[in-house]
Amino acid sequence: MAEGHRRLVAVSNRVGPLNDEGKAGGLAVGLSDALKRRGGLWFGWSGNTSSKGTFSEAATEIEGDVALTTIDMSEEELSGFYYGYANRSLWPLLHYRLDLAEFDRQSDRIYRSVNQRFAARLSQMLEDDDLVWIHDYHFFYMGSELRQCGFRGKIGFFLHIPFCPPEIFTALPASHDIVRAMLAYDVIGFQTDTDRRNFANFCVRELGGEKLPGHRIRVGDRVVVADTFPIGIDAPGYARFAVSPEAGEHEEMVRGMVGDRLQIIGVDRMDYSKGLVERFRGFERLLEEYPENRGNVQFLQVAPLSRSELDAYVELRRELEELAGHINGRFATLEWTPLQIMTRGFTRRALAGIYRAARVCLVTPLRDGMNLVAKEYVAAQDPDDPGVLILSRFAGARSELTEALVVNPYSTDDVARALQRALTMPLEERKRRWEQMREAVFHGTAAHWCDSFLDRLENADNEADGSAAEAFVEAHPS
Ligand code: ADP
Ligand code: F6P
Repeated sequence: MAEGHRRLVAVSNRVGPLNDEGKAGGLAVGLSDALKRRGGLWFGWSGNTSSKGTFSEAATEIEGDVALTTIDMSEEELSGFYYGYANRSLWPLLHYRLDLAEFDRQSDRIYRSVNQRFAARLSQMLEDDDLVWIHDYHFFYMGSELRQCGFRGKIGFFLHIPFCPPEIFTALPASHDIVRAMLAYDVIGFQTDTDRRNFANFCVRELGGEKLPGHRIRVGDRVVVADTFPIGIDAPGYARFAVSPEAGEHEEMVRGMVGDRLQIIGVDRMDYSKGLVERFRGFERLLEEYPENRGNVQFLQVAPLSRSELDAYVELRRELEELAGHINGRFATLEWTPLQIMTRGFTRRALAGIYRAARVCLVTPLRDGMNLVAKEYVAAQDPDDPGVLILSRFAGARSELTEALVVNPYSTDDVARALQRALTMPLEERKRRWEQMREAVFHGTAAHWCDSFLDRLENADNEADGSAAEAFVEAHPS
């Protein structure tokens, strides 16, 4: 643990790994970069199911200054908590996809009980002056459950994904319960100002709360800090990855494969929020409208499978494979296949090399909390010959990466035009745009994100108008 700091206890559904393994998910990447620096305890789900579920024995692995402690879930817990409430109700809803959200009492009940179980297990490991930092939509109730278990220290919460407007969030039958439970946290962090405002508006309109100066919100007697803390990557570390021998091999492999053609890359978990179908259509439109690109560009979409047990994800995979087949069937020649889709994982070093070989990176989610791929692509570029980032206006990263080519991902024409502009952009303009983005990525790192959130959390008492944990428990008896 870093000297002079209280112990950091981070909680998230997925835990680790801390090493350079292929792993897909911004939370794991951002948090492991932060924890490696500061040390502490990282608590969450083991990734396994067992008959004892959340009553199973905790397993701990130590890596440097970090202890990774996990427990199992039962099949029933996994299905109701993770596949059910987290990914069938909350994920689509918070990504503005009310059309895909499903609500049922059973998964609501299991979600609450898993939050309670994780809190009960964690509370046995806590010391009074620990700083507890809960992550993401899997654990909205955990702070209030920790309070019920008697923990009186500081608890922060960070939402890695968007927070939708109140008009959408109120469709969730438990929306009031969730936001009231969130008031147990001392500091609530969001990726963007839009997410923060949506949350504050919910508190005001639905719970009769009041916005206070300094991004604080009062609801009844409770005052909490709700502010914006954009997550970043370990930019210097990532830039070093990009010139490592492993990255170099992958860069060469890609360059060898595409020859004189220009490489376009996309890297996303296979998720409907990532706008992959719309992106493929944009690429098809490029080949239609700008035929000089036929035979001269190559699009590689890396899309590791995610949540494949859910129908919406199975359907997405089917649709993407069909669309890729259609585009290749329509434009391929004997020596050229325009679009390649790959579901395998890569190490971070390998991925950095693949990014470096690509002239254009397409990051076009329909809605995304931040999107670390955009930042990784920037960090991996060769300063003498940087590529161009095409970025959705609906990605959190848009507020920092202002020199990307910003597109509306729903507009096929917009994506095609941006691709054409990126593919023909002169070196001087590429450099100018990349330098601004590099500065932003090196400024807003994972370390900066972690430090600014934890500073705020340590000082939360002074800011939150003296509203103590005790008062929360009194006002919200279980
Ligand atoms: P999300 O959290 O929604 O998945 P992000 O873009 O914020 O989206 O984070 C995705 C992370 O997963 C990035 O760090 C990216 O490098 C990593 N990743 C994506 N695809 C792969 C892959 N095939 N192999 C290894 N890592 C991947
Ligand atoms: O970063 C957003 C996020 O939802 C994380 O919470 C999650 O760990 C990651 O994407 C990958 O999703 P999953 O854990 O469901 O595979």
